[in-house]
Parts: sequence; structure tokens; C-alpha cells
Amino acid sequence: MSEVRGSWGSKLGFILAASGSAIGLGNIVFFSSNAYKYGGGAFYVPYLAALFLIGIPVMILELGTGRLGRRSMPNAMFQLVGKRGELAGWFGAFNATLITMYYVAILGWILGMWVGSLGNLWQASAIENFGFASGELSNSMSYFFNMISSADPMIYVTLIWVANILIIIRGAKSIEAVVKVFVPLMWVMMIVLIIRGITLPGGLQGIFFLFTPDFSVMGDVGVWKGAFSQMFFTLSLGFGIMMAYASYLPRKNDDVLSATTISLLNCSFEYIAGLAIFSLLFAFAIAPKASSLSMIFFVVPEGIAAVPILAGTFGFLFFTLLLMAGLTSSVSLVEAVVLSMIDKFGIPRVKVLVGIFCVGLVGSLMFVLPIVVDPGLNNNGTLGFSLVDLFDHWAFGYGLLLCGLLEIIILGWLYDFDKLLDFINRDARVQLGAKFKFLVRYILPVVIISILTLSVIEEFQGGLYGNAMETGGFKGLHVIAFLGWIFFSVGGAILFTALKRQPDAEELS
Ligand code: ALA
Repeated sequence: MSEVRGSWGSKLGFILAASGSAIGLGNIVFFSSNAYKYGGGAFYVPYLAALFLIGIPVMILELGTGRLGRRSMPNAMFQLVGKRGELAGWFGAFNATLITMYYVAILGWILGMWVGSLGNLWQASAIENFGFASGELSNSMSYFFNMISSADPMIYVTLIWVANILIIIRGAKSIEAVVKVFVPLMWVMMIVLIIRGITLPGGLQGIFFLFTPDFSVMGDVGVWKGAFSQMFFTLSLGFGIMMAYASYLPRKNDDVLSATTISLLNCSFEYIAGLAIFSLLFAFAIAPKASSLSMIFFVVPEGIAAVPILAGTFGFLFFTLLLMAGLTSSVSLVEAVVLSMIDKFGIPRVKVLVGIFCVGLVGSLMFVLPIVVDPGLNNNGTLGFSLVDLFDHWAFGYGLLLCGLLEIIILGWLYDFDKLLDFINRDARVQLGAKFKFLVRYILPVVIISILTLSVIEEFQGGLYGNAMETGGFKGLHVIAFLGWIFFSVGGAILFTALKRQPDAEELS
């Protein structure tokens, strides 16, 4: 079967692909903005708790399940516990598809900034001021808002989708060829950026900020939810990615070692990315904004523009790094969904790719429509930017944790958990025993359910997310986004679970 299905050329290829999936916009952008939002050093306590309590254990389970079932998430879970498992798997796959759509849209904007970094992005006088008086907006901010309110991102998004499809055209084989080049390069670029950041006068202040804890925020459930959903996102958990990638592994693999290696590689990259970004911002006394996207699109570029020499080169490097990191993650998002379809319906890869390209492109284009809804830039500026903000709140903030919870309940309670543990232990140097079982069956569900319940209570006390957002003539956008997320992920899951399964689908993948 493996010859037909395809597999990684080497263990290193798998580790590079999985760490390339994990290292993405989450590491460079979302981590820094979360760390700032939740008090700098204080974020590390819930972050490290999330890494060891939930990140590495869930990664072990996802790798083990993917390798045991040799299928993508909905299909592996179907094999373990039948339709209930498949339903949860498709929920994860549809939630991931929604995230992919706006992830690609964000990559489209990054491509726009990359193009700008080759041209007039760093020349103050070259850009019109998005309707503001001259000098009121920083140069990068003006460039960004002019770009996203034009039709150009529609071209950029199409190019990013084409790149994704080309990279996964031959499954594990073509993905491996790309990550072997991109992942080492990403590390080199990040190291160059951090050296530049900390050697700037004042740059070290940013590092102190990241290490100076503010424990007053620790009682805030939002900090914990932020750290736990960040951990799922950054480790690519709850998307079905790790199960899909593990299904390409040879029969024997040490999942405990692989999960620990991938998680630690990812979190070290995230950590040094935080150091690079904060040193840059503190060197130029630029207040980091809590909103993640503002961080990459205008706060960091503002810092780069102030670098005394070679600002353009560093800017180009920064956006190249974002593009590479984002692409190695987006291909894994797309591959997880593509493989789910191949495994269930037995449709040839090329046909699935054509379908995913069309649906995904339309979805991503919705997020980059050049419609200005908030010209005063009080919130998000354009319709697409507002949609990303709203959908991200549900799909990232809740969807991933929910999918993780379902996985844990299915594996820990509905399936014979000892069987999965025996399978993982067979090839693992460090054996998982009763403590791990207790963690998965009791502690993790209680922790995730508590975080989700408290967040929902807090959420509804303040009204549905986005109710005060300026959305121009688009009234009720926050309600549409919430219902849209439910309809797409739950409705899609019900529909796809109900569709007929191809009996020997795996033979065709
Ligand atoms: N893990 C990927 C990221 O951090 C999705 O961007």
C-alpha cells in the first residue's frame, strides 16, 4: 500500500515537514502579539504549561493515531471508533479549511508587502495616505491599507493558492523536496534577524520585557485560553495535519521522540522570533499592538524602516521569511484536507486538488475583497480584514480546542486507549504508562472543558465577539461570522460523514 500511497523519503524529511508545518505565522506573529497582550514574561507560565501538559501529549497521540490508522484524521478516527470518530475528524477538517482560507489570504497580503519591500514600501514620500493627512499614518501602515483596499491581493492570493497546489502535487514527495530547502533557510534568516535586533541600541530592552513577568494577569482565563489555543495552532494540532503526515511514516517510528523533537524545534523558533521582534520594537520605542495582524503588517515594518543601515534588505528578509514559514504551514493545512478526501472517496489526487483549488480560492478571495468599511481605521479598515478577525476568533480560538477535546475523548474513552499506548510504546524509547493515561483521560478533558466553559461565559457577558466592530454598511457581520463558522464546520462534518465511503479508497491515494 505504501508504494501507492507514497511516504516520506527519510525520517529527517518527516521531521522537517512536520516542523515546517508547525513553524508558521503562529510563531512569528501570533506568539509575539499574545505575549505582549498577556503581559510579556507572564505569558510563559501558561505557555510552558500548555506545551508540556497538552502540546507534546496531543502531538504524540496524533502521530500515533495517524501511524496506526495509516489514514488522515476523519478516516483514521473512523477506523478506531466508527462514525462518531469520523464526525469529529471532519469537524476538524472543515474548521481547518476555514482557517486555510484566511491563512492563505494573510499570505496574499504578505506577498503584497514582499512586493512592496522590493519597491516603495521603505520610501516615506512615495505612498498616498489612505485618506489621512500626510504624516498621520506611518509609511508601512499607509502602504498596507492602500494595498488591501486595492484589487491586487486577489492576484497575490491566487498565486499563493497555485504555489500550494504545486508543492503538494505529488504528496509527501514534493512536500519533502520543498521543506528540505525552506526549513533550514528559515532558521538562518531568523538568526540573522535576531542578531540585527539585539545589536541595535536599546534592543535588549525588548528581551527584558519578554522575561519580566506580570503575574497580575495569571488569574485571567483569557490568558490561559490564549496560551492553550496558541499551543494548538503553533504545533499544528487539531487540524488533522500531524495525523496526515504521520500516515506517510514507515510502520516503525518513535512517536514520543518525534513529537518532542517537533514541539521543541517549533517552540525554540517561536521563542527566538519573539526575541527578534521585541528587540526591534523596543530599540525604536514602538509600542507593540495587541492585534496580531497589525503587528506584522505595520508595527514590525515600522521598526525595520527605522534600522539605520540596510533597512530595505532586512525588510525583504523579514517578508521572505514570513512567506516561507507561511507556505510550509499552508501546504500542510491543504494536504490534511486533500488526504482526507482521497482516503474517504478514493478520488485521484489531481481531481481533489482541482476541487480544493476552486473552493479554497473562492473562500480566500472573500477575505481580500477591496471594500473599505472603516475608513477611520478604528478597527480593521476593510471588509476582508474584519472577516479574518471575526472568523479567526471562532475557528482558531474555539475550533482547535474543541477538535483537540473531541480527539482526546475519542482516543481516551471511546477507543481502547491501552491498544494505542501499546502501539506507540512498541517503538518508543521512553515508555508511556499510567501517568500519561491519567493525563489524557482525566486532566486534559477537565482542563480544556474548564477553559472553554469559562471563555464562553466571559464571551457572552460582553456580547457576541465583534458586536462593536465598525463594519460600515455590513450590519450583523459578527453574527454572520459566528453562524457561518458553525454552519461550515458542523454542517460540513455532518454532510461528509453521511456521504458514501469508497471501500478500498486507500489503494488510490
Ligand atoms: N502551525 C502553523 C503556524 O504556526 C499553522 O502558523
